[in-house]
Amino acid sequence: MRRKMIAGNWKMHGTKEFTKKFISDLETWLDSEETGIKVSEAIEDKEMEVVIAPPFTALDCAVFSRITGKIRIAAQNAYHERKGAFTGEISFPMLEELRCKYVIIGHSERRHIFGESNKILEKKLIAALESHILPIFCVGELLSERESGNMEKVLAEQLSSAWWSLTSDVVAEMVVIAYEPVWAIGTGKTASSEDADDACDYIRSLAFDKFGAATSDSIRILYGGSVKPENSRDLLSRENIDGLLIGGASLEVSSFKKIIESAL
Ligand code: 13P
Repeated sequence: MRRKMIAGNWKMHGTKEFTKKFISDLETWLDSEETGIKVSEAIEDKEMEVVIAPPFTALDCAVFSRITGKIRIAAQNAYHERKGAFTGEISFPMLEELRCKYVIIGHSERRHIFGESNKILEKKLIAALESHILPIFCVGELLSERESGNMEKVLAEQLSSAWWSLTSDVVAEMVVIAYEPVWAIGTGKTASSEDADDACDYIRSLAFDKFGAATSDSIRILYGGSVKPENSRDLLSRENIDGLLIGGASLEVSSFKKIIESAL
């Protein structure tokens, strides 16, 4: 059974104070309320992971204000070079020092607002793995690409360029894929659970073609795009959706908790 992942991507939101309070409220819930304790048991039994990805400025606060190890911390990005004259960038060894477990790579906002290409994202994926920070690698098509029947082509290009040099073991054990259709991000338009599952199934078939059955069975594939407490259970009930990458609804403990509960 693949371990479920519920991950909150805070994007450019969240001060240190906000982060401290969020973690404290979430940990209190995990330790004291009935559903929180069930989630804690699922985390301990390796059935579920709860991840938050605050901005860089709050990462140390997130990592060090946790009292238990139940919440994992992810960074939202990093640069592939280890050090050097790259003003404004953060390297993977810097994230390693902060004990980040995961890093989001290739989010559509990085691809489309900041112009990150498949080539750069391949380098970032490899650099993350070299630093033993587990990548949550995002892929997804634009609305125009979906409407012109090119969704599969886009996903195949994004993935094949990212993982061509990786081995099946590395992909199975270390890589998480997030399918985030660009037209569903921050728009309130969620992909139907059937469409989301179909796209995740297609991604799994790409993993099968490249790496074989063991890897395609074990790789975790998340869905992201306008996930809310009202649609999370339906999405998570689908065979190929192993978790959720949540933007807006991860910024309030109350809605994030409801989404986590729906993974039980
Ligand atoms: P929303 O949940 O706000 O649509 O954002 C999704 C996302 O981009 C998560 O990475």
